[in-house]
Amino acid sequence: MTEQRPLAAVLGSELDLRLLGYRDYTPLRNGQVDDEPYGGGSGMLLRVDVVAAALDSVYGGVPSHPVVALTPQGRQLTQEVVEELAFEERLTLLSSRFEGFDARIVEHLCSDAVSIGPYVLSGGELPAMVLVDAVARRLPGALAEGSGERESFSAELGGGLEHPHYTRPPEFRGWGVPEVLLSGDHARIESWRREHVR
Ligand SMILES: C[S@@+](CC[C@H](N)C(=O)[O-])C[C@H]1O[C@@H](n2cnc3c(N)ncnc32)[C@H](O)[C@@H]1O
Repeated sequence: MTEQRPLAAVLGSELDLRLLGYRDYTPLRNGQVDDEPYGGGSGMLLRVDVVAAALDSVYGGVPSHPVVALTPQGRQLTQEVVEELAFEERLTLLSSRFEGFDARIVEHLCSDAVSIGPYVLSGGELPAMVLVDAVARRLPGALAEGSGERESFSAELGGGLEHPHYTRPPEFRGWGVPEVLLSGDHARIESWRREHVR
């Protein structure tokens, strides 16, 4: 993921990524980071003291920049949320596994909680990568000039979906390309594109 554009284009300049593991900071023996839920039930929960110890070690406490828990219970990730987070100087993303977070982590150690969609994944690693990718492509230099301004869900398209795109060949198995796109008439092409924003 980090070796490909657009992430590779901003890594080390606009974007620094640090990957940290709770086990490296846990105050508990044998690298323990999770525990059984009070009240019973299946699964293990990430412990609040472990996450607090990690934040203490890395930042000297709860940092002043946003700390975002990745959880199905968070607010849904939309392009608007991406734009908001891309504006931040720094972000800390917390992910969990198994049954999830002790609720006190989200309540007291995080300032935000984000879900990447209404479905459950096995861990927060993929949600964190989704968020990093979506934020990274909004950073200066990630994309060719202007190409990120007029994408699906952008303000420029009124939050709508981008028009269809076509490339060579102009005909394949009888499937053609709209004639206007081959015309070279930029005004007509522009108006066709505007008409086909959904
Ligand atoms: C198996 S899930 C926990 C599901 C949780 N018990 C529930 O029912 O909501 C384990 C972890 O994966 C991550 N995760 C799973 N689905 C996610 C989603 N849709 N958005 C963000 N994070 C998610 C979170 O970090 C979560 O704590």
